[in-house]
Amino acid sequence: MTADKSSMEGKVCLVTGGTRGVGEATALGIARMGATVVIVGRSQERINDSVERIRTASANNFVYGLKADLSSQSDILQLAQAFLERYPTLDVLVNNVGATILNYQESPDGIELSWALNYLNHYLLTHLLLDMLKVTAEERGEARIIEITSSIFQLASSNFDRQQQKRGYNGALAYAQSKRAMMVYTSELARRLEGSGVTVNAITPGFVKTEIATTSALWARLIMRVLQPLAMDLHKGVEPIVWLATAGEMRKVSGRYFYRSKEKKMPKDCSERVITQRLWQISQEQIAVTTL
Ligand SMILES: NC(=O)c1ccc[n+]([C@@H]2O[C@H](COP(=O)([O-])OP(=O)(O)OC[C@H]3O[C@@H](n4cnc5c(N)ncnc54)[C@H](OP(=O)(O)O)[C@@H]3O)[C@@H](O)[C@H]2O)c1
Repeated sequence: MTADKSSMEGKVCLVTGGTRGVGEATALGIARMGATVVIVGRSQERINDSVERIRTASANNFVYGLKADLSSQSDILQLAQAFLERYPTLDVLVNNVGATILNYQESPDGIELSWALNYLNHYLLTHLLLDMLKVTAEERGEARIIEITSSIFQLASSNFDRQQQKRGYNGALAYAQSKRAMMVYTSELARRLEGSGVTVNAITPGFVKTEIATTSALWARLIMRVLQPLAMDLHKGVEPIVWLATAGEMRKVSGRYFYRSKEKKMPKDCSERVITQRLWQISQEQIAVTTL
């Protein structure tokens, strides 16, 4: 899993939630391989700081930022428009952003926040960028989508008709359900993309030292405080993500689930057609913005 310093030269990668943690470290890993890297964040100041850190640490000046609140569908639409206007191709899309939410909250579109931020808006962003990914794959032989999930998906079921409500809200289950949805979405999208040259895979980095649990839900903060000594160093933690996003041998691999660099069997109820198609339908129904 060593990085070839120039193997990504001329390629364009988009990483959501790139202002710290797994997203920033992944962006850095890919920038070190010579790619043009665009990170997405919601604060211009934090985007600028992160871009500067990545440029310095990678010695690659082709690192840029785009601002969007990824919990908002209209921001996602503007983000996709800005990306399509500014960049000629999209070789790698890393759907990384994610948060654990303590109390019931809704996104600007009135959707439970974990679901909107961790899953649904990635579905929307991917959909808006799909033509560009397909054209890139046609011209260059491949394009990749990486979904960052978490092993916590195992706590949830694949029944997405029953989503977390305000009454009796459980933040851990809401997080788990959004991460399970990413797995199910990966299965369905991989089927729909067969033969296009665009691949999609889900990966969990394992337990990595970041601020995810220090900035969000109380239950997660408490767990993190106890378990923190066991967490992996951030840059070690993202190595498998960078590998999945860039390694030549993974070029044609699609619809798979990885725990770090180890492929794990995609659970049956994450790939069954009746479930994957139902999630697709629910996702479409929840998208309110007019697409491009
Ligand atoms: N850390 C782990 O052990 C672990 C394990 C398994 C899976 N994961 C997954 O890895 C991914 C990244 O987690 P992390 O640990 O790196 O989290 P993190 O340190 O909390 O970083 C989250 C990133 O997302 C951004 N973000 C949050 N809400 C946003 C919004 N509404 N709009 C735009 N950007 C937003 C944050 O930007 P701001 O600077 O604006 O807050 C930050 O850059 C998540 O999907 C998580 O589920 C992490």
